[in-house]
Amino acid sequence: MRLEPRIVRVNIISHIENRQAQAVSGIADTAGQEIRLEQVRKVYGSGEAGVVAIQNIDLQLRPGEFMTVVGPSGCGKSTFLQICAGLIPATSGRVLVDGRPVDGPPEGLVYLFQQYSKSLLPWRTVLQNVSFAIEHRAEIAAPQRREYCMDHLAMVGLTEFADRYPRELSGGMQQRVANARALAAKPGVLLLDEPFSAVDALTRIELHKLMLRLWEEQRFTALLVTHDVDEAVFLSDRIAVMSNRPSVISEVLPIPLARPRDKLTTPEEPAFLQLRHYLLEKLTGGAHA
Ligand SMILES: Nc1ncnc2c1ncn2[C@@H]1O[C@H](COP(=O)(O)OP(=O)(O)OP(=O)(O)O)[C@@H](O)[C@H]1O
Ligand SMILES: [Mg+2]
Repeated sequence: MRLEPRIVRVNIISHIENRQAQAVSGIADTAGQEIRLEQVRKVYGSGEAGVVAIQNIDLQLRPGEFMTVVGPSGCGKSTFLQICAGLIPATSGRVLVDGRPVDGPPEGLVYLFQQYSKSLLPWRTVLQNVSFAIEHRAEIAAPQRREYCMDHLAMVGLTEFADRYPRELSGGMQQRVANARALAAKPGVLLLDEPFSAVDALTRIELHKLMLRLWEEQRFTALLVTHDVDEAVFLSDRIAVMSNRPSVISEVLPIPLARPRDKLTTPEEPAFLQLRHYLLEKLTGGAHA
């Protein structure tokens, strides 16, 4: 059975409204961590067949900042994110999280894969997948875990699917489970690779609102990769623009829109429209490129 998008939205909205009073979580918020990239370069393969994916990237994210990376397909965005997460090594240069060089996934970092099915464990139910995020954490006792995880499933409108397996869900629903699990972990750093790509447009709006609401409450450091310029402008403090391969960060653009942002009115602001126009022109090789 598939839920109507309208029902999903209602579930999410009513859940958000209830949530402040509930305070179910026994998990302390983790303060956002600083991320620094120093001259990060990645070459796949070697010699003439080698592909220079990214070229000498320097970038710094402040603790608790929401930064987005946009760039053309194949320019190296996922490569960049996986290096930040310590999932693959840089060919040269280094990444530091709170001053410590990354040589494997750092404590408190959560990664949402572009292929969302990679994020889910197929032999676990939806609820067990969300619970996976907190099982190793002592501060929430076993009896409260179920309530805490159900709370996060409700946030993404999937309460009724708690006992189903990922294969029984649509792609967009699986992506919502992956989002719920990432948020349940209360990360210090959340790395998101196209995390809303498979959901319908209306559910995406609700997930944007949910993401911003929890980010504003918890202030994790968020690093998002997306093709969607509207999404980037709506969510971010700053947007880093990647060039074609071999990729550099060609520009880091501050997004001076007031917060909290509103899904209806913020995209109508002249500053939003100007930033959107500028980025689209830059990414499609227009006058500003
Ligand atoms: N494991 C790998 N081995 C060899 N080449 C790779 C590997 N992963 C990525 N590449 C190459 O590196 C370049 C960047 O790939 P990457 O997946 O980082 O791009 P992307 O910007 O995330 O693309 P998309 O927007 O389509 O998701 C591409 O040319 C790709 O072919
Ligand atoms: Mg990618």
